[in-house]
Amino acid sequence: MEYDLAKASAIAHSNIALIKYWGRSAKFPPELNMPLNDTISMTKRGVTHDTALTTHTTIEFSPHLDYDEAVINDEPADERTMDRICFIINALRKQVKMDWSFFLRSYNDFPTQAGLASSASGFAALTLAATEALQLNVSKQALSRIARLGSGSACRSIHGGIVFAHRGESHETAFAEQLCAPDDFDIAAVIAVVDQHPKKITSDVGHDLAKTSLFNDVRIEQSQIHAIRIKRAVLGKDFATVGQVAELNCLMMHAVMMTSSESLLYWQPATLAVIHRIHALREEGIECYFTIDAGPNVHCLCQYNDIERVQQAIQDVKGVLKTFVAIPGGDAYITEAHLF
Ligand code: DP6
Repeated sequence: MEYDLAKASAIAHSNIALIKYWGRSAKFPPELNMPLNDTISMTKRGVTHDTALTTHTTIEFSPHLDYDEAVINDEPADERTMDRICFIINALRKQVKMDWSFFLRSYNDFPTQAGLASSASGFAALTLAATEALQLNVSKQALSRIARLGSGSACRSIHGGIVFAHRGESHETAFAEQLCAPDDFDIAAVIAVVDQHPKKITSDVGHDLAKTSLFNDVRIEQSQIHAIRIKRAVLGKDFATVGQVAELNCLMMHAVMMTSSESLLYWQPATLAVIHRIHALREEGIECYFTIDAGPNVHCLCQYNDIERVQQAIQDVKGVLKTFVAIPGGDAYITEAHLF
């Protein structure tokens, strides 16, 4: 392939898992990030104009560059991030039989230090931008598979709305697909930030610890059942079941985290205070549920009409630093707005 200009930009949304990915399958090389169970997520679009909860990435391949370089939020990418970026880029360079180096620049519009940053939007935007720059005409399914090489959750951020990721039996069969479009299921997340510091143990490391918990096998087995239940409930527009099952699945993941060796306890006192507030809101008749990723911040799932009441209640909880609201976002997309 001859390239005049191998440069492109893309934007992708982050996502919150309703059925969690925790632990890579040992049957495959770790860099494939093959999850042990099917997962489901909501792609997130922040409702305030400056906080869309997206990553915007521009990449350029050139024969004039001497080495690969990535700059994220104006900082050079650390070594592990660079490795993960190269898992994706090397697979693509191999496919097009090209050895040019790249330069990439990426910005997250997550509020600075809100503890919300996630690799999912970053690797999804990178995958889309890089395939576009290399003029690879790939399907959404293929994009999702390639994004997984960066992080397991990134395969879901290729799609908008509610997304189902198959654990798969091989690299080819482990991909995500859209379960329903953003407007087709009434769900929102009020995000309670209780700690803004980066977590001490990243998910990347945590995935290798999952197998040391006695509860890991039962979580995997139950997650497969949970995924079927949530899929059915989303298609049947049954928010209560989605919330109940998501909450249970979250608790199971944290039980595995807490009982792994070493033990991972991501919750802070304010995490628990928010959980109690959510229980109280339910008793007051508001349909809302919690889910928490590998960190102390809480996503409170509710329906659109309840956002305001839930947000008011959550931001009054002691220890909550700020709250954000997200609704289902769209697919990752190409943009002409280049960052350099
Ligand atoms: C707890 O390795 O996909 O969020 O944590 O952003 O590096 P990063 O991503 P990844 O692990 C995600 C773990 C999780 C659950 C989930 O998103 O499914």
